[in-house]
Amino acid sequence: MYSSCYFYLFHFCLLFITCLAQTNFHPKTFFLAVKQDPSTLQYITEIQQRTPLVPVKLAVHVGGENLWVDCQTGFKSSTYKPARCNSRQCNLAKSTSCGDCKTKNKTRPGCNSNACYNIVSNPALNNTFYSGAEIAEDVMTIQSINGSNTGPESRGPVVTIPNFIFSCSPSFLTQNLGKDVKGMIGFGQQSSVSFVTQLASVFKFSRQFAICLSASPQENGIIFIGHRPYLFALGFDASQDLFYTPIIRSSPEYYLHVSSIRINAKTLPLNNTLLSLGGTRISTAVPYTVLEPSIYDTVSKAFISEMPENVKTVSPVAPFKTCFNSSFIGISRLGYNAPGIYFVLHDPNVFWTITGANSLLLVKQGVFCLAFVEGKKAMGEAIVIGSYQMQNNLVEFDLPRRRIGFTNSLFFRQTMCSDQFYTS
Ligand SMILES: *[C@@H]1O[C@H](CO)[C@@H](O)[C@H](O)[C@H]1NC(C)=O
Ligand SMILES: *[C@@H]1O[C@H](CO)[C@@H](O)[C@H](O)[C@H]1NC(C)=O
Ligand SMILES: *[C@@H]1O[C@H](CO)[C@@H](O)[C@H](O)[C@H]1NC(C)=O
Ligand SMILES: *[C@@H]1O[C@H](CO)[C@@H](O)[C@H](O)[C@H]1NC(C)=O
Ligand SMILES: *[C@@H]1O[C@H](CO)[C@@H](O)[C@H](O)[C@H]1NC(C)=O
Repeated sequence: MYSSCYFYLFHFCLLFITCLAQTNFHPKTFFLAVKQDPSTLQYITEIQQRTPLVPVKLAVHVGGENLWVDCQTGFKSSTYKPARCNSRQCNLAKSTSCGDCKTKNKTRPGCNSNACYNIVSNPALNNTFYSGAEIAEDVMTIQSINGSNTGPESRGPVVTIPNFIFSCSPSFLTQNLGKDVKGMIGFGQQSSVSFVTQLASVFKFSRQFAICLSASPQENGIIFIGHRPYLFALGFDASQDLFYTPIIRSSPEYYLHVSSIRINAKTLPLNNTLLSLGGTRISTAVPYTVLEPSIYDTVSKAFISEMPENVKTVSPVAPFKTCFNSSFIGISRLGYNAPGIYFVLHDPNVFWTITGANSLLLVKQGVFCLAFVEGKKAMGEAIVIGSYQMQNNLVEFDLPRRRIGFTNSLFFRQTMCSDQFYTS
């Protein structure tokens, strides 16, 4: 009922721009459930789109510029609208071409006359996977949070966005995305059609979102979109624990400055030029943090030497190169006992603490590996922070203030990303 009401109001809104002020509910925060696909290690969320509404599974890509979905196979919707050449939608979605789809006698979503296209890519594969995709609008719904509640009643109404702009890709682009995953949802910082930008502009809130990835493929984590608080069980507000570092580049992707790395008390001798010029990207499309080879080598040696004497290295298990016999690795509330890894950020007093839960991975019976991978020599970037290191940390992306916030492991607070009332 709320949805149809909202739908009506939105159309009304096109004539009277202040319409949101006339509704009595002003959602400032929305959420999506997010869960790891065990086969691809991608993090997957589900949106409701089209008329009639259907659930659509999408891989999360924080640096993605748009939401794209396979329209070639099984896309049915009575409210699908291709973006007409030179329209506002084409502009917002940075169209690169315009015209008629070749099989124009059979128009379908993704293939219409007088429609514009942009380029979409699948970074989960590699940079060779690009395609033109028809820019379009359709109905989408999203679950809001009722900020006046903290307990199990904290879900607010489902809200409808009648004209959500997305890109309609051919089916081949979904290769390797995992079972039933139909596209990707982008939260890039500069795009006018990224998920957070569109929601923020429709509902008039500040462009920010916070990601909390669960470590278990059986349990949902959460993406908060919009305003704080970020409430977990027992009323703990994770936004209180955030410490910030600046976003350092103008790029759809998110870069921050890692100025040095410490392991326990030792500051590692790393190439500062590489750290500053190459920079550090944070990406949900990469499963394990990738380190440039000279950095990997230094981190690996220091990690081994800081392990207790009785923990022996064993033959590596790909894609990892540093593995240990698990027999003497202890476990505590904070995860496996491992040397602390500290990514020192823009300021020597601001560092991200990576404990055993995010640095060691049980790869098979009896073998733990350092869950970082060695990049290619010519990777350009010094570090790409991947999803394993983000698990059970809350990471906030605050676009207007150009900063990224980290909480450190929620295990320090005896909670975790699945431990909230919204998605569990
Ligand atoms: C497309 O439609 C036109 C007009 O209806 C028709 O003349 C033409 O043969 C059709 N082409 C194909 C490939 O079906
Ligand atoms: C990109 O991925 C495809 C499919 O997985 C693979 O066939 C191709 O070799 C890859 N290319 C590069 C440059 O890695
Ligand atoms: C929010 O929660 C309060 C308290 O339970 C309730 O009275 C109110 O109707 C809720 N608002 C919406 C929009 O669901
Ligand atoms: C440090 O990194 C820069 C940039 O990649 C490189 O040009 C330079 O040779 C490196 N210095 C050393 C001592 O390896
Ligand atoms: C780990 O150490 C135990 C005890 O020394 C030994 O029995 C086992 O074979 C070792 N495992 C591996 C994978 O080396």
